[in-house]
Amino acid sequence: MPQPSVATMDKIVSLCKRRGFIFPASEIYGGIANTYDYGHYGVLLKNNVVAEWWRAMIQERDDIVALDSAIIQHPRTWEASGHLAGFTDPLVDCRTCKQRFRADHLDQVPCGQKPSKHPGEDAVCDLTEAREFNLMFETTIGPVKEAGATVYLRPETAQGIFLDFKQVLQFARRKPPFGIAQVGKSFRNEITPGNFIFRTLEFEQMEMEYFVPPDQAQHWYEHWLHERFEWYVRLGIERERLRLRAHDPDELSHYSSGTSDVEYLFPIGWSELEGIANRGNFDLTQHAKHSGERLEFNDPQSGERYVPHVIEPAAGVGRSVLAFLCDAYDEDEIGGEQRTVLRLHPALAPVKVAVLPLLRKDGQPELAREVYERLRRSMKAEYDEGGAIGRRYRRQDEIGTPFAVTIDHQSLDDRTVTVRDRDTLQQERVAIDELPARLLERLDPAGA
Ligand code: GAP
Repeated sequence: MPQPSVATMDKIVSLCKRRGFIFPASEIYGGIANTYDYGHYGVLLKNNVVAEWWRAMIQERDDIVALDSAIIQHPRTWEASGHLAGFTDPLVDCRTCKQRFRADHLDQVPCGQKPSKHPGEDAVCDLTEAREFNLMFETTIGPVKEAGATVYLRPETAQGIFLDFKQVLQFARRKPPFGIAQVGKSFRNEITPGNFIFRTLEFEQMEMEYFVPPDQAQHWYEHWLHERFEWYVRLGIERERLRLRAHDPDELSHYSSGTSDVEYLFPIGWSELEGIANRGNFDLTQHAKHSGERLEFNDPQSGERYVPHVIEPAAGVGRSVLAFLCDAYDEDEIGGEQRTVLRLHPALAPVKVAVLPLLRKDGQPELAREVYERLRRSMKAEYDEGGAIGRRYRRQDEIGTPFAVTIDHQSLDDRTVTVRDRDTLQQERVAIDELPARLLERLDPAGA
């Protein structure tokens, strides 16, 4: 039976706040529902997750191209995609406490009057019938609200890819199978409490639409299930805390003929990390119909013409960050003292190396800064001379820094330093001149 990591959601939320990774947005005004800001280490971690995704999509393959499409698209996009009619959640209102709940999540949220119960469980609860509520945020183009055009903040990045399919086919000179990848913000008017950054109103998605000949759809669906599952494992997530779960027919989105989720055993239980969908030719056909453009592939060699089918791996950046944080979180004891450590994969760690003079005198800070300035040319390094060395190690352990380099009195004599490993706690003496190459090799053994 797989066990979740030792992390609880409370511990992750508290570490993220304490170390400035992620914290509630608009806090001076009391916060805003399901909305968070990323601080310094959170930004670095998030950027590393996104960079690893791009690496897997673009650098390590030659059949995928990148795109960055607009957040606000022509409003007919959402008519064609089915989002205007079908991207809804069933909501109920309580006439007593005036709160609104998702009808299918009543068992997950507290009652507005009696928080120990769920909505509808107490005699005072007075719930309305469920009504469908569209999750897209609406806004207006133009200075006058009444005369402006109603537009929508995109609820998924995928549609921008379909709108640009024809352009990319031409300028990137591709033929199926090929993919278009993009990372960007999406917006959904979620009303269910989000479990920290698991479900937020605005979130970044990493989506790739892979266009294939119709008879190859099943093959590529299975290919992407495997690729995406292994991506998380390669970046350090325990294999036993990941699983693939195929959607039941009644769970499928309106566009999908088959979807499986990569699920992670979060502290809240098994939950979706990423969806891999077989979208068939739904989107290209719909946009062709609504725009009047031909969105198909015309093979000049065989004369064959067809609307490609689409396999879509769609991941959330914030949800991945949360899974990496939960899985890396650990607690142990060093010399009778409790330690919190993030055992993040080095590729994801916000800071790769900390440079710490043992003492703030005798030329140690000067040599330490020289080492730091050399290292930061090739990796994210941090210099810290404040406080006892033990406390400085603990601080780096908590933000997941894989290596700490300490400059001591011997360093001034023989230009060597000690390198402390975050996980094994072993210390090794290394010559300053060899340090950048040695660290780079340990950070990326395959790439060195
Ligand atoms: N284009 C397909 C699509 O958007 P989805 O399953 O709705 O599919 C894909 O979203 C991924 O985006 C999810 O697996 C999740 O990681 C992330 N995601 C979706 N809604 C989210 C939300 N409200 N907050 C944070 N992440 C979200």
